[in-house]
Amino acid sequence: MARVDVIRVKGGARLAGDVVVGGAKNSALKLMAVALLAEGRSVVSNVPRITDIAIMAEVLRRLGCEVSLANGEAVIDVPTEPGSEADYDLVRRLRASICVLGPLLARRGYVRVALPGGDMIGSRGLDMHVSGLARMGAEISGEHGFVIASAPAGLRGTKIWLDFPSVGATENLLMAAVLAKGVTEIDNAAREPEIVDICQMLNAMGARIDGAGTSTLAVEGVDGPLKPVRHTTVGDRIVGGTWAFAAAMTRGDVTVHGVRPEFLDIALDKLVTAGATVEPGDNQFRVRMTERPKNVDIVTLPYPGFATDLLPMALGLAAVAEGASLITENIFDGRFMFVNEMVRLGADIRTDGHHAVVNGRERLSGAPVRATDIRAGAGLVIAGLCADGVTEVGEVHHIDRGYPDFVADLARLGVEVERTDVPEPTFDF
Ligand code: EPU
Repeated sequence: MARVDVIRVKGGARLAGDVVVGGAKNSALKLMAVALLAEGRSVVSNVPRITDIAIMAEVLRRLGCEVSLANGEAVIDVPTEPGSEADYDLVRRLRASICVLGPLLARRGYVRVALPGGDMIGSRGLDMHVSGLARMGAEISGEHGFVIASAPAGLRGTKIWLDFPSVGATENLLMAAVLAKGVTEIDNAAREPEIVDICQMLNAMGARIDGAGTSTLAVEGVDGPLKPVRHTTVGDRIVGGTWAFAAAMTRGDVTVHGVRPEFLDIALDKLVTAGATVEPGDNQFRVRMTERPKNVDIVTLPYPGFATDLLPMALGLAAVAEGASLITENIFDGRFMFVNEMVRLGADIRTDGHHAVVNGRERLSGAPVRATDIRAGAGLVIAGLCADGVTEVGEVHHIDRGYPDFVADLARLGVEVERTDVPEPTFDF
């Protein structure tokens, strides 16, 4: 009989101690794609040990790169002429592989990447990636589930207005623009710390990007080849934020190392509103809570707003807070999919469109639940810490995509937790 992994946590824990957070998944994946822009060996360090990074390494290998992953480093040797195709079998496992579109189009003048499709947090379009590249002179078509882009005479600088500060579109357009002829201006660009990280690596390689971290990016295309570099990934603010919420929800005392607290300003301020004490430091912060959290209204928005990836933690906090909270999701249409799992833990949550009304309960009630995406998975484990009895979270491969050492970190912070495999029932017909 096939077996599947589950995480079991015993409720009633109080998180206390120190936790070290590594590099941001959503930066490291793109930094590996950035490497494609220069022939030779680039090294990306502070890379988290998670499944998504291993899949990205495979995407690059299939493009002809040699990639080794060890000791938190991705060593990437890029050939003179990398391949120009990314297949569905990898792209469906890692949506982020769409980020090879921009750099390969810039270097090869032709690229064919499988369309990733939707996922459990929503429909996730690519229209801004495509229309931006078209404005730069690419010819784009779609067939048999692939997006095909070509620009045999090269891309040219232009002005691009994004309808929405999409992280992925900003990244693809940046990586395409660095080798274009002339200046590309991207307006309403995403401002996430991960975008700044990518701009820093690109500039170190010889690109000319101005305005990183603001809504207007000016990219002056360079003529000559870019050079390979060594770059350290920025700390993972979403993993850091997850621990911050877990500390507040369990009335704990946790110091998070490896993440700059200014990247979590709004999230940490919400915890203060809920009654926590937050002490920011240099690339670290401490969150303490001594009483039951108070209700707090939260709205997700592009950076520097409250991150959508922390929405499951916000719902968890609201679920155990005193009073009613209103939580609004503005980025993904399916982000509330996992609410039914929270309800299985006894949370009192009603949703209407992109709003959720949460009536806090003193304690939740342990139950078997199922992770539906990375962040929902982590959110359910943490909600389980505030539940009576044992919570068993299934489909933990989702959590493995974004949280290295999650179970070991929980254990170090004082949680009774185990990861184990259970038989997967099969029903023959
Ligand atoms: N969108 C479009 N058209 C586009 C591009 C985006 O309609 O051309 C829509 C999407 O459908 C979505 C919204 O715009 O509703 C935001 O999408 P965005 O492009 O900003 O997000 P992304 O690049 O697909 C990254 C992270 C997500 C994170 C979001 C928002 C990576 C690999 N993923 O996704 O991270 O939630 O930005 O901050 O960087 C996660 O790590 O668990 C995760 C989902």
